[in-house]
Amino acid sequence: RTRLIVDVDTGIDDALALLYLVADPEAEIVAALCTAGNVPVDQVTVNTLSWLQVCGRPDIEVAAGSQVPLVAPLMTTEDTHGPQGVGYAELPEPNRPRSSRTAAEAWVELTRQHPGELTGLVTGPLTNLALALRLDPEIPLRLRRLVIMGGCFHHPGNTTPTSEWNVAVDPEAAKEVFDAFSVVPADRRPLVCPLDVTESIEMHPGHVAQLARLAGCTADETLSVDDPRGQRSCSAVPLVRHIADALRFYMEFHHDQGLGYLAHVHDPFAAAVALGTVPYRTRPATVDVELDGRLTRGTTVADLYGMWGREPNSDIVVGTRPPVFFERFLERVGSYIRD
Ligand code: BDR
Ligand code: CA
Repeated sequence: RTRLIVDVDTGIDDALALLYLVADPEAEIVAALCTAGNVPVDQVTVNTLSWLQVCGRPDIEVAAGSQVPLVAPLMTTEDTHGPQGVGYAELPEPNRPRSSRTAAEAWVELTRQHPGELTGLVTGPLTNLALALRLDPEIPLRLRRLVIMGGCFHHPGNTTPTSEWNVAVDPEAAKEVFDAFSVVPADRRPLVCPLDVTESIEMHPGHVAQLARLAGCTADETLSVDDPRGQRSCSAVPLVRHIADALRFYMEFHHDQGLGYLAHVHDPFAAAVALGTVPYRTRPATVDVELDGRLTRGTTVADLYGMWGREPNSDIVVGTRPPVFFERFLERVGSYIRD
């Protein structure tokens, strides 16, 4: 059984990652912590509260983090995720308040309460975890494992030519986290899921149609694969409708980037790595983050060969099998919605 602290900037693919975890009977989210990223932190918090509500889990604690990165001015990306951060999905208002503690306090308190038991999964900028590490530098020794969606090692990046969004939003936080985790033993090094691999996880309209079928939508309610921009959402099952409405926006964004009508679902892949439901290969590396650099601020740099004379602080995911990811993800989420 995997018990998780998730730290998200919900976000279309963050929402899918949360749903995947909720759907897995072997997983338990002990808290969902919100960070500023795709949209401002208050909107991320509202999105996370209402998303967990429509996923049938209004009981999961949702805590908010800092309004701003450690040093950098806040950037958000409504172009990618929509004005509210969930594409065209129209989610209900949350029917409960956020947690009374901050995200950083939750990291500290939960890892003290459950030492050695919790897996951390961060699918947004690393601001909350960096703030928590400033409060308590021993967190790395109390986590079972940390899984990060972030970075890119064979450029190009998706934010600057050499940087990935989650690191680029708060490079100082990312650096503090990588530095702090250099104390953990080799078998508990952070697992880093960079763009190099997550961009191979391409979700297509056919996957959405398959999900709708698995979730119990009848044929005429499911989504047309041929005419993605004109497709109808599955009206009978609200959660399927929300997923389809969110992904329609995300796929249009990727289409407008010249990538075709598809979506890179980075964060659900990182969730699968945390759950162990996808095969993957890793390489040990010392990861550091460029904080200066006229062209390269926010770039993740990996030393694979010990050139810096420092011990590895990460296991970088370097390969996977996307069809296996989709088979398991669609089946798990589809049957959760159906039942
Ligand atoms: C990451 O950036 C965000 O927009 C996505 O949610 C994902 O976590 C990919 O670079
Ligand atoms: Ca994210």
